[in-house]
Amino acid sequence: MRTSCSGTNSSRSRGQRDGLSCSLSQLEINRGCSGRSTMGRLDGKVIVLSAAAQGIGRAAALAFVKEGAQVTATDINGEKLKELDGIPGIKTKVVDVTKRDQVEALAKEHDHVDVLFNVAGFVHHGSILDCEESDWDFTMNVNVRSMYLMCKAFLPKMLAKKSGNIINMASVASSIKGVVNRCVYSTSKAAVIGFTKSIAADFIEQGIRCNCVCPGTVDTPSLRGRIQAQPDPEQAYKDFMARQKTGRMCTAEEVAYLCVYLASDESAYVTGTEHIIDGGWRL
Ligand SMILES: NC(=O)c1ccc[n+]([C@@H]2O[C@H](COP(=O)([O-])OP(=O)(O)OC[C@H]3O[C@@H](n4cnc5c(N)ncnc54)[C@H](O)[C@@H]3O)[C@@H](O)[C@H]2O)c1
Repeated sequence: MRTSCSGTNSSRSRGQRDGLSCSLSQLEINRGCSGRSTMGRLDGKVIVLSAAAQGIGRAAALAFVKEGAQVTATDINGEKLKELDGIPGIKTKVVDVTKRDQVEALAKEHDHVDVLFNVAGFVHHGSILDCEESDWDFTMNVNVRSMYLMCKAFLPKMLAKKSGNIINMASVASSIKGVVNRCVYSTSKAAVIGFTKSIAADFIEQGIRCNCVCPGTVDTPSLRGRIQAQPDPEQAYKDFMARQKTGRMCTAEEVAYLCVYLASDESAYVTGTEHIIDGGWRL
């Protein structure tokens, strides 16, 4: 027998199932009577994400299709993005998320989007004294304004269906933890947390939910690049490792598992929250 949050499921629209009012029945259908997974956890969901060419975005795109989603994977780096071409379930598109016309064109291509995952971000190294106005503006543009543009372009489509799920990439380096040499980066990620809660609060009654993900140190190409860019890369690597209480960095795949949960109906009652995945770094 199927169970739903409100005791009925027969007349539920797709929108109601995907939004906060999701019934347990959909999960049970997906898992089958025995409780084993018979279908993907994201079957039929249309997911658009940014920064999918490498790192966490790429790992998330692959995890989403593995669970049955139809994914539009975007990135500014067309060459790297091509590596995802030909993977069943993935469509790629070069998009600079700081360009309003490109973001709006991307939104126009989609009649319906279940999940929007804003991943793109840039790490500026330094304290306020190392941060020129141009660094400040560039970081806030890539890390915060891009999410404003993406949400503004995609929200109306979600509202029309009374259903939508937005995931934003924040960081533990934010309002959660003060981190040395991450002045504008932490400021931008704290803004992402505030932005996330604002969207969650404003649209909760219209079937929209919005959460953010706050990783600690994730072993990605850009992290390796930042280590190499230090005057003493060997020491920089040791410093990164020294702050890992678990003795290792997080993998992009581990962050992707959390994102699958947030993108799925399993998290239908979860909104306006920051999800920390930092191996206890903040403790
Ligand atoms: N790696 C970490 O330790 C870590 C920790 C916490 C949070 N994060 C956040 O996770 C996100 C992804 O980080 P990562 O380390 O996996 O990424 P990465 O730096 O390895 O990859 C970032 C991707 O973003 C793309 N990109 C950059 N500017 C863009 C733009 N204007 N438009 C579209 N795409 C653009 C790049 O081409 C690249 O493919 C970022 O928001 C980052 O701040 C990362």
